[in-house]
Amino acid sequence: MIRTERLTLRPWRAEDAEDLAAINCDAETMRFFAAVMDREGSDGHLARMMAHQDEHGFGMWAAERDGHAIGIVGLQHVPAHRAPEPPPLVEIGWRFHRAHWRQGYAFEGATAAVDYARDVLRLPSIVALTARINAPSRALMQKLGMTHDEAADFDHPSVPVDSPLHRHVVYRLRFT
Ligand SMILES: CC(C)(COP(=O)(O)OP(=O)(O)OC[C@H]1O[C@@H](n2cnc3c(N)ncnc32)[C@H](O)[C@@H]1OP(=O)(O)O)[C@@H](O)C(=O)NCCC(=O)NCCS
Repeated sequence: MIRTERLTLRPWRAEDAEDLAAINCDAETMRFFAAVMDREGSDGHLARMMAHQDEHGFGMWAAERDGHAIGIVGLQHVPAHRAPEPPPLVEIGWRFHRAHWRQGYAFEGATAAVDYARDVLRLPSIVALTARINAPSRALMQKLGMTHDEAADFDHPSVPVDSPLHRHVVYRLRFT
């Protein structure tokens, strides 16, 4: 468990399913993803995040505030189907409930995740991946000190070629 000024970052639990669905099933929040999730898809996402935490001892965490999970922020091994390069490759990621945007929560949580990657996991580097047109997320990557590695940009295999979300960018943060 990690405490920041306003958030508790902790592993997801089964009882968070409703809070997570409020994030994952919102079309505006998911506009840079191939599809908005339905409740079943969100529950599957919850199970995958819990399984990653169990297997690796870290993961995409629940960002809790006032007893509710208001966002996802953390670290995970990039799933093989969308990895721009061979493993091991750990990505930082984030997604917050729309009601809490632009209040500094994602930066606060992501800063703690960067510290964890560097000081606890002692990784040599992390990446962040997103659709090329995801300007808010790219701005957050830059604010965290990450650098766009243009040579590593890739086409997402599960997004249609004619979709504006097809092209993905890779940002990197090196610790060594
Ligand atoms: C991206 C996201 C997590 C940002 O969350 P947030 O809590 O609003 O972000 P913060 O308030 O901490 O802002 C941190 C920085 O992100 C960038 N940013 C956030 N929202 C932005 C926006 N709408 N437009 C441009 N930049 C934005 C800015 O650089 C900002 O720093 P600043 O406030 O000094 O300008 C949120 O918009 C979100 O959940 N989006 C949908 C999910 C998503 O796309 N996730 C990423 C997939 S890879």
